[in-house]
Amino acid sequence: MKITVIGGGIMGSGIGQVAAQAGLDVTIVDVSEAGLDKAKTSIAASLEKFESKKKVQSAADVLNRIQFSTDWSSVGEADAVIEAVPEKLELKKQVFEKLDRLAGEDCLLASNTSTLSITAIAGATSRPEKVIGMHFFSPVPMMALLELVKGYQTSEETVEKARQLGVQLGKRLITAEKDYPGFLMNRIWLPMVNEACFALMEGVGTAEEIDQGFIDGYGHKMGPLRTIDMAGIDTTLWAMESLYEGFGDPKYRPCPILKKMVEAGDLGKKTGKGFYSYEGGVKEDAKRVVV
Ligand SMILES: NC(=O)c1ccc[n+]([C@@H]2O[C@H](COP(=O)([O-])OP(=O)(O)OC[C@H]3O[C@@H](n4cnc5c(N)ncnc54)[C@H](O)[C@@H]3O)[C@@H](O)[C@H]2O)c1
Repeated sequence: MKITVIGGGIMGSGIGQVAAQAGLDVTIVDVSEAGLDKAKTSIAASLEKFESKKKVQSAADVLNRIQFSTDWSSVGEADAVIEAVPEKLELKKQVFEKLDRLAGEDCLLASNTSTLSITAIAGATSRPEKVIGMHFFSPVPMMALLELVKGYQTSEETVEKARQLGVQLGKRLITAEKDYPGFLMNRIWLPMVNEACFALMEGVGTAEEIDQGFIDGYGHKMGPLRTIDMAGIDTTLWAMESLYEGFGDPKYRPCPILKKMVEAGDLGKKTGKGFYSYEGGVKEDAKRVVV
């Protein structure tokens, strides 16, 4: 089976990696050569860890199953395409318009969007029944969950194809039956994370205390602020904006601190600084609270 992933950032590289680990032929397509280099380096590092823990037999064999390209020609050969470009509706629509022109008629077209309307994304194609949300969780090679999201016109055949692909990738599935902003998981998770940002901004506690509270009080492996440092502050802000716009309800108003951090270019681990500092890549540094 051949799969093309559009966008080789945090999510696209993770999705490409698990697909290659499952034995699929993978192409990761990105607009940026630098982005593709970064994807290759991060996949290689992750596979080496898996190899040393005997979770992967040969990291080199898995990596060899992945092509990295700025060229879209693999789309025409793909059995499935999973899109993982930034969380902006207009960009995703442009990508799906192009996929509609290039993909074979039986190709499964999936979006990894966190919050955006699958129905609107599918509307950019001439085959909305073949478009579905396949929402993976980060880091994709570690997280078991895959949330399928049915658009208004998604066919049962498409749902079944996506389900089979998800199982092949080793994921456990849940399905959002209706296409509301944030689907099942992010509709609940993001307002809570946003509230953690407001609590920090209003000085109720420090980032470390908020995160520690979630670890010690609720048994989470990582607190909400550390988690969105990993996910990307930009991605979190855009996802929150999409909930706010999609529901038209003030309870989803994005916390201003998220906006300020994006304006400042402090996007979390990927830029070396978010709520915590990751400069130098030293683990201890991650404990130094920035905000
Ligand atoms: N980060 C998370 O934890 C997370 C979790 C679940 C879902 N998502 C969703 O996954 C998607 C991607 O998020 P991410 O965190 O990987 O973002 P990212 O910023 O790490 O990566 C996005 C990549 O897309 C590339 N890109 C931009 N325009 C493109 C185009 N026209 N064609 C091809 N590539 C293009 C960029 O160069 C970049 O490498 C978003 O919709 C996001 O909401 C993110």
